[in-house]
Amino acid sequence: MKSHLDFIPQKYTQKLVEKGKFQWSAPSNIALVKYWGKKENQIPANPSISFTLNNCKTTTTLEFEPKGFTSENFSFDLFLDGIPKEDFKPKMQKFFERIAVYLPFLKDFHFTIFTQNTFPHSSGIASSASGMAAMAVNLMSIEKLFNPAMSDDYFWQKASFLARLGSGSACRSVKGSVVVWGENSSIVDSSDLFGVAFTEKIHKNFQCFQDTILLVDKGEKVVSSTVGHELMHNHPFAVQRFEQAHKNLAQMKQILIDGNLEQFVALVESEALTLHAMMMTSMPYFILMKPNTLEIINKIWKFRNETNIQVCFTLDAGANVHVLYPEEVKNEVLQFIKNELIDYCQNQQYICDEIGNGAQKII
Ligand code: PMV
Repeated sequence: MKSHLDFIPQKYTQKLVEKGKFQWSAPSNIALVKYWGKKENQIPANPSISFTLNNCKTTTTLEFEPKGFTSENFSFDLFLDGIPKEDFKPKMQKFFERIAVYLPFLKDFHFTIFTQNTFPHSSGIASSASGMAAMAVNLMSIEKLFNPAMSDDYFWQKASFLARLGSGSACRSVKGSVVVWGENSSIVDSSDLFGVAFTEKIHKNFQCFQDTILLVDKGEKVVSSTVGHELMHNHPFAVQRFEQAHKNLAQMKQILIDGNLEQFVALVESEALTLHAMMMTSMPYFILMKPNTLEIINKIWKFRNETNIQVCFTLDAGANVHVLYPEEVKNEVLQFIKNELIDYCQNQQYICDEIGNGAQKII
């Protein structure tokens, strides 16, 4: 698929779709090379690559019923953990508006959306990636009822494409353990429109890779990702940053194939700090790290120096720290986390996760 127009269906072979329901889970993901800055319609300003997570996920049940009449409005109810969630509705409404041209049946149905996350809602872990990915695959299951001959490739590419329109990084939460989003000369078939699974064989050092998420601060972010991306327009270092991300992605590809953990650590930590450096050098500038974020980073550096265990950190747009390490050193690193890092977490909270496989159909 080369253009967004390829995702506008020409005609459906099935005219009538009765009421029904689907249920999918979709995971969160953690970027190694970060997406920060976008063009119109959620087109990324630079390519990114992420590990798909396994335990941090959203499960969404989507019930659908023909309205029986045509109207210009979307009709849906939304429940989080079984409770009506009115304040999530504007975001869903906007998502429906953005994707309506690609899913012409949307206005013909009433939808009831039941969603729940495995991670605490106010943990500072964004549910937008897993949540939008779970919605997108559910909606593709409905589209498949209208077009049963749909190919698997089309299903997954369009699911990622739709998820991207909900939240950029959500397109990396649909399919694959390692996902690239954004055109890059080193990745065949990479696209700005959707995420693609990394097809090279990943070195055994990265199989079952661990991500322990330290919940440093669960508060509302001072600056949202949307505003942060916006501030990359006219940013003094934007051009260099976008170029650097292209080079870093090519380098990361080789690292994942070769299994060089020292190079992995250096590149991942540099990417995390570059992301936050972009925030600190935006105008207006802002800081999302907290004092405990820095305490943890320093402890990780000290532990790595002393033990030569290749554990590293990465950060998203927030204060929480993702601690990344090979499965082989799981016991040592978990002990270190318990002994030295959990006191820097709010209520000593952390989540153990690892590399996963993407969205799963439940019903
Ligand atoms: O998908 P958004 O708009 O929430 O952007 C998220 C960007 C980062 O998490 C900071 C980096 C990334 O690539 O996931």
